[in-house]
Formats: sequence, C-alpha cells, structure tokens
Amino acid sequence: MSKSILITGGAGFIGCHVVRLFVTKYSEYKIVNLDALTYAGNLENLKEVENAPNYNFEKVDIQDADALDLIFAKHQISDVIHLAAESHVDRSISDPMAFVKTNVFGTVNLLNAAKKAWVGELDQHLFYHVSTDEVYGSLHDGGFFLETTAYDPQSPYSASKAASDHFVRAYANTYKMKTVVSNCSNNYGPNHFPEKLIPLCINNIKNSKPLPVYGKGENVRDWLFVKDHARAIDTVFHRGKPGETYNIGGFNEWKNIDIVRLLCQKMDQKLGREAGSSEKLITFVQDRAGHDLRYAIDATKIQKELGWDPSLQFEEGIELTIDWYLANEEWLEHVTSGAYQQYYKELYEN
Ligand code: NAD
Ligand code: DAU
Repeated sequence: MSKSILITGGAGFIGCHVVRLFVTKYSEYKIVNLDALTYAGNLENLKEVENAPNYNFEKVDIQDADALDLIFAKHQISDVIHLAAESHVDRSISDPMAFVKTNVFGTVNLLNAAKKAWVGELDQHLFYHVSTDEVYGSLHDGGFFLETTAYDPQSPYSASKAASDHFVRAYANTYKMKTVVSNCSNNYGPNHFPEKLIPLCINNIKNSKPLPVYGKGENVRDWLFVKDHARAIDTVFHRGKPGETYNIGGFNEWKNIDIVRLLCQKMDQKLGREAGSSEKLITFVQDRAGHDLRYAIDATKIQKELGWDPSLQFEEGIELTIDWYLANEEWLEHVTSGAYQQYYKELYEN
C-alpha cells in the first residue's frame, strides 16, 4: 500500500469522519485508527468501515510510549494525522491534569515515536497535528483569528492544545520534522458527544429536559459541519505546505442563545410539538469560568491557497444533524448511559 497512515482519536467525533473519509476514498492507503477508547471514543462510530480491508484498529493510549513504538513498527507507519485529545472545556476546568497528560505529554510521546521510526528520512513523512481556534484566545473587539494571530489560550483545554501546537512546531524547527498544523472552529454534526452544546440541546429537547445556557447566552462561536472539517483535513494532508498553519472555519458566527432557539423551533416542527413549546425549556445557568466571548476564524488562506470551501449552509447542516440524532436513538442511548449520567449530574444538578 502506498501509505500507512496513523490516525489518532479516530473513534471520536471528528476522527470517525476523517477515518471514514480516508478508508473509503483511498483504498490504496492502509489506515490505522489508534484510540484509547475513553468516554468520548466509540467504535460504533466506525461500523460502516470496520470490515474494510484497508482499515485497522489499535486500542492504545498515547501516554504509553512503548506501545506507540510497537505500532509504528508493526504497521510501518508513513504519516500521522493526530486528533486524539481531551476535548471538552468544562472537563478541563474540573480536571486540568487529564488534559496535560493526553494533550501535551501524549502529543510529545507521539512526536518522539515518529522521530524514532522515521530517523534518517524525516523529510519523507508528514506529522499532521489537528488543533483548535481556541489557542488564539477570545475576541472582544471584532476582528478574526488569522494564522499569524498571537497565541493567548484562556482555559486549561486551550492551554494544553497551545502547548501541543508549540511542541509540534518546535520538532519541525529543531529536528527538521515535516509537520503541518490546522486550527479549526467549532464543529457540529452526526456522532457529536452529547456533552457539547448542540447535541446536548438536541438530546434534552427530545427528552423535554432543561436547556442549560451559560450566562446570558451572548457568547459567539463559528460553526462548521464536521464533514467539511474532514474534507479540509484531507486537503491539508495532501496539499498543505510543510511547516505551514491553516485556519479552518465556517464563516458562520452564532450567539449560543440563537442556536438554542433555532434548535427549539426546528425540533418542535419535527416532533409535531406546538410552536414555542421547547423554548420554555431554556434555562440560564451559571456561566462557565473564564468563558471566552467570541471565536471567529478567517479561513481565507486555506480557501485561496488550497481551494477548500465549506460545502454546507448552516440551516441545511443543522437539519441533517437533528435528523441524524432522531434516527439514531440507540447510539444516543448507548453514549448517554452510565458514566455520562454521573457527569451530567455533577455539572448541572449540584
Ligand atoms: P472527541 O473528544 O470527540 O474525541 C477524542 C478521541 O480521542 C476519542 O475517541 C478518545 O477516545 C481519544 N483519546 C482521548 N485521549 C486519548 C489518549 N490518551 N490516547 C488515545 N486516544 C485518546 O474530540 P473531537 O471533538 O473529535 O476532537 C478531535 C480533535 O480535534 C481534538 O484534537 C480537538 O482538540 C480538535 N478540535 C475539535 C473541535 C470541535 O469542535 N470538536 C474543533 C477544532 C479542533
Ligand atoms: O472552537 C473549537 C472548540 O469548540 C474545540 O476545540 C473544542 O474541542 C470543542 O468542544 C468546542 O469548544 P466550545 O467550548 O466552544 O464548545 P461547547 O459545545 O462546549 O460550547 C459551545 C458554547 O456553548 C460555549 O460558549 C459554551 C456554551 N454552552 C455549552 C454547554 C455544554 C452552554 O451555554 N451550555 C452548555 O451546556
């Protein structure tokens, strides 16, 4: 096979869309999905590719350096697309160390494993690090995040992602590794774990439970359909210039409260409920500590240099997303049982 690509975090939300895209689009590549299967990793996300001849799964924690060396040797890994991470800001506030261990220590382990496996031929292999717009901090006075915007992370999650980005660039500079980094805005779509705003609200509206809006709901996020992010990752992996950074975003800013209202309206229609009934579930709760006000990506560079564009309008993407959750009740039931219920109780019911 022409390439043997290690995709980390492939059982998570974005990772499963990337794995599915690469397995089906590139039958000539061997795809190795490496994932520790934390609460956020779910092999049910990969049912449609699990029997494909070019798909492989390895249950490994990126904190385990010896196990990573074995995987590089076993699969003769030629390139890495690194998505594995602790990804939820609220969890980073209650347990920052988990984010240091996976996002910082785990990323450095992975860089070391790649450096060791590719010794003498570092210029022939790509280490692609998938990161977030949150590393740039919070926008208060208008403007957009550019690739040149100074890092200013404000939460333990974004601080850990910023540190991992710095390590990747430091390995490129020091050891001449071929690396690329992309920083993306908020994703939404199928397979999104229901601790995040959009799937949490869809699940709660369905079950007529309160919709917890932090603070006044005035915070702004730029939303991108997850399959468009997967397409962007494909584009950057194949056409991105080594050493470069690419910002990825949807040109699609929404205040949280407006998204929650939109979900209420759409779901009232789909569930045959009286118009306005779900909006009564909106409950303003205590704000997230250190809550970033606004994120907004300027994605002109990837548009102009690599020819990528978001393909879906938000209204269309949100319809698809709601329909997916309503059609996949079993998936939702599986991921919201047990540990999730305990987490939800601790965060919202104390
Ligand atoms: P997710 O939480 O849904 O999935 C993370 C995956 O990583 C899970 O499958 C989990 O089991 C795995 N994982 C966690 N710790 C691990 C470890 N120590 N070893 C191996 N596997 C481990 O996350 P996501 O939303 O799909 O995000 C994927 C990546 O994209 C992350 O790096 C995140 O920072 C970045 N990102 C996310 C968004 C977003 O809106 N969700 C936006 C921009 C960037
Ligand atoms: O910007 C990219 C980032 O987007 C990614 O790097 C993160 O991994 C991803 O989780 C996401 O971070 P956010 O904190 O923006 O996403 P979340 O869905 O947690 O929250 C979106 C907004 O909604 C945020 O302003 C907080 C608010 N919110 C969230 C939840 C879970 C609420 O008002 N109520 C809630 O219950």
